[in-house]
Amino acid sequence: MSKKQSYPGKFITLEGGDGTGKSTQARLLSEFLKEQHKDVLLTREPGGAPGSDDIRQLILTGEPERWDVVGETLLFYASRRNHLRLTVWPALERGDWVISDRFADSTMAYQGYGNQLGVEAVSKIHEVSVGDFEPDLTLILDIDVRKGIARTQGRTNNEDRFEKMDIAVHERMQQGFYEIADKNSHRCVIIDADRPIDEIQAELRKIVRERLLSE
Ligand code: TYD
Repeated sequence: MSKKQSYPGKFITLEGGDGTGKSTQARLLSEFLKEQHKDVLLTREPGGAPGSDDIRQLILTGEPERWDVVGETLLFYASRRNHLRLTVWPALERGDWVISDRFADSTMAYQGYGNQLGVEAVSKIHEVSVGDFEPDLTLILDIDVRKGIARTQGRTNNEDRFEKMDIAVHERMQQGFYEIADKNSHRCVIIDADRPIDEIQAELRKIVRERLLSE
C-alpha cells in the first residue's frame, strides 16, 4: 500500500506556520536545483494532483466550523494520498527531485497539536495512508506566529479558513513543529524565517548541498 524508501529521486518538504514565506523559498530552491542539473518537480499540499485540488477548496474555504478536526484530517489525508500516488511517487521513480510546499508534518502540527486531535490519532491515519514513506529532508520555517499571520493579511484569495483560527491554535501548532523536529532530527531542520528572503534561501541551499548534493 505504501512505498518503501528506495527511489532514485529526492523528496524535500517545506513546512512551517502561515506567512513564513515557504512558497517563495520553495520556488527559489527549485531554481537552484535546476541550476544543479536536476529534474525538479515543485508541488504543494493540499493539492498537487487531480482530486487533491478539489479537496483543497473544500478544506481551505469557508468558516472554521465547516469541518471538525477528524473530518478535516481525513480530507487532508485523502488529498495527500492522491498527491503521493499520482504525482510524488511517479516523479521520485523517474529520478526527479520533488519539493513539496507542505506535507504530513503540517497535519501533525495543525490538526494533531493545533486543533488537538493528538499525536496518536494522526499517526494512525498517517500509517494507513502513507506508511513508512518520509521526506529525505524537511525544512521548517519558523517565525513568531503573530508576525506570520499579519503577513498573510494582504492576500486576496479566500483560502483563509486556518488564518481565521484562534491564535492559541497557531501557538500550539508552532510548538508541534518544534516537537516534530526534535523527534525527527534525521530529516528536519528548523530555520529562522524572520530574515530577508535571500539570507533564508542561502541557508536552505547550504543545507541541501551538505545533506543531499554531496551524497
Ligand atoms: P498553504 O496553502 O500552504 O498556506 P500558507 O501559504 O498560508 O502556508 O496551506 C493552507 C493552510 O492549510 C495553512 O493554514 C495550513 C493548513 N494545513 C493544515 O492545517 N494541515 C495540513 O495537513 C496542510 C497540508 C495544511
